[in-house]
Amino acid sequence: MKRDLLSHFDLTADEIRRVFARTVELKAKRARSELEHTLPGRTLGMIFEKASTRTRVSFEVGMFELGGHAVYLVRDGTQIGRGEPLRDTARVLGGYCHGIVVRTFGHAVAEELARFSPVPVLNGLTDLLHPCQVLADMYTVQERLGVSALEPGGARFAWLGDGNNMANSWIEACALLGLELTLACPEGYDPDPTVLERAKKKGDRRTKISIVRTPIEAARGRDVLSTDVWASMGQESEQRARTAAFSGFCFDEALLAQASPRAMVLHCLPAHRGEEITEAVLEGSQSAVFSQAENRLHVQKAILEMYLAPR
Ligand code: CP
Ligand code: NVA
Repeated sequence: MKRDLLSHFDLTADEIRRVFARTVELKAKRARSELEHTLPGRTLGMIFEKASTRTRVSFEVGMFELGGHAVYLVRDGTQIGRGEPLRDTARVLGGYCHGIVVRTFGHAVAEELARFSPVPVLNGLTDLLHPCQVLADMYTVQERLGVSALEPGGARFAWLGDGNNMANSWIEACALLGLELTLACPEGYDPDPTVLERAKKKGDRRTKISIVRTPIEAARGRDVLSTDVWASMGQESEQRARTAAFSGFCFDEALLAQASPRAMVLHCLPAHRGEEITEAVLEGSQSAVFSQAENRLHVQKAILEMYLAPR
């Protein structure tokens, strides 16, 4: 039976730990210019309906480094843009490729693709979730703060800003691993209620997730602080209203000073300096954002092996 990765709940906590253990190996080998070709002859189809730098390049380079190949498909330039149903595209691509990455708007679109695809579908971002990014984020935490940071009672996590796809994926990842996460979101910008509900139902019973209204409440004493843009892709017309709603939510040095002394800063990028985060915090010594971006490659190589290797 083929498996998809649309949400972190498609994985178990143990599988995430195994992915991270393999990531350590892959990253160390790459640093020594040793590339293991574990996916020879395997091809990844990549359907992108939104812009991307990191996700696109890290998946393409990842496939190349594993001895496989990636084919990048955009809406315009393929029959998807001329209205060919995704369910047909899914079955056609399944005849050529061994896996599909999809970046799209509605999460239901990715779910439909997965339902019809005979090969694994990996979520490269939907309006609801961005699981591959948050796996790289979690791995970056493990790298900086140690394996124990990802164990129940380990690091304490904060999310500052919009209850968007990234926030939803943080909720899922923390729930799966039994971690403590406090989200500071302005009223009206909470995470998705179905995600919160599912996290409660399916998550580890040691999980602690709470929503507060001021960034300081979320930041105080926390070890890992993440933020993201206030207007995500597809929400450009809301930019002005969102800028007003998020006033007071800029992640600045005063806020970081409230966090734990070992606190690390994450941002999935692209960042809007001076809006959700200041230049000083983004470029400061506690920021891990560029390791976080690099780790997309290493973690996704481990995911690609897990999902695309011949069985
Ligand atoms: N963080 C992230 O997913 O970046 P891209 O939009 O560049 O892929
Ligand atoms: N929340 C952002 C993440 C970009 C990687 C968006 O969806 O645009």
